[in-house]
Amino acid sequence: MSAKKLIVANWKMHFNTGQASLFLHKLDQLIEVHHDVEVVLCPNFLALQSLSLQLNRRKFRLGAQNCYYKDEGAYTGEVSAAMLHGLTQYVIVGHSERRNIFGERDKEIAQKVQAVLRSSMQPILCVGETKQERVDGETASVIHGQVTAGLANVTSDEMENIVIAYEPIWAIGTGDFAAVEDVMAAVRLVREQVKGLFGAKAAEQVRLLYGGSVDGSNANAYLKADGVNGLLVGSASLKAHTFATIVSHAHTLGKNG
Ligand code: PGA
Repeated sequence: MSAKKLIVANWKMHFNTGQASLFLHKLDQLIEVHHDVEVVLCPNFLALQSLSLQLNRRKFRLGAQNCYYKDEGAYTGEVSAAMLHGLTQYVIVGHSERRNIFGERDKEIAQKVQAVLRSSMQPILCVGETKQERVDGETASVIHGQVTAGLANVTSDEMENIVIAYEPIWAIGTGDFAAVEDVMAAVRLVREQVKGLFGAKAAEQVRLLYGGSVDGSNANAYLKADGVNGLLVGSASLKAHTFATIVSHAHTLGKNG
């Protein structure tokens, strides 16, 4: 399993192009080059081009928050994975806000995963249960269903380029973060599932993240948790000092073993 931690900043619909550039400038001052941490910034589509020219590639990589699965065509308002190729290395796919606000379904999400792989980038597939599903004891089956659907048509060889983020919906943007034991249980389930579907090597290679109200004070506990390869950070990634603290936790952890 990769010892390198992956820290992904999902800026969502925050920061216009100028603000994004200023913010990157701040991050650049606060975050050092770490060989044991990969930091991925996911701004809005418009900011990608300018940030790609500005960013120090030894410290940061870029990701998109979404894409469309067709490479080109009459799809007003969409941006394809093919168009992102060369600009981003990662694309977040199936975030719960895409599923719930924009009505994305599993089939479309699977097609997006395919499109991202086809364009030689790495999908960050988001899965997670709602509060009600959790109360009803359906967490494991919901995650299982979303992983199965999202990875339909993916090959074992492609699994080394897949990242899966466990993001319980009730924990996103709420301040109500998941217990570390629950996160460990969820990622264990996902890894077991990947093993069943794609074999032991794929299970070892796939990177599994936790996301949901991660901040400077709880990040360390998740980063230390068994089977967790990194974090997907929303609100806390909009505060330069907090985000830098999270990155430095990931680094210190690598140093200590
Ligand atoms: P949050 O968002 O950290 O603000 O909860 C996480 C996410 O939506 O990826």
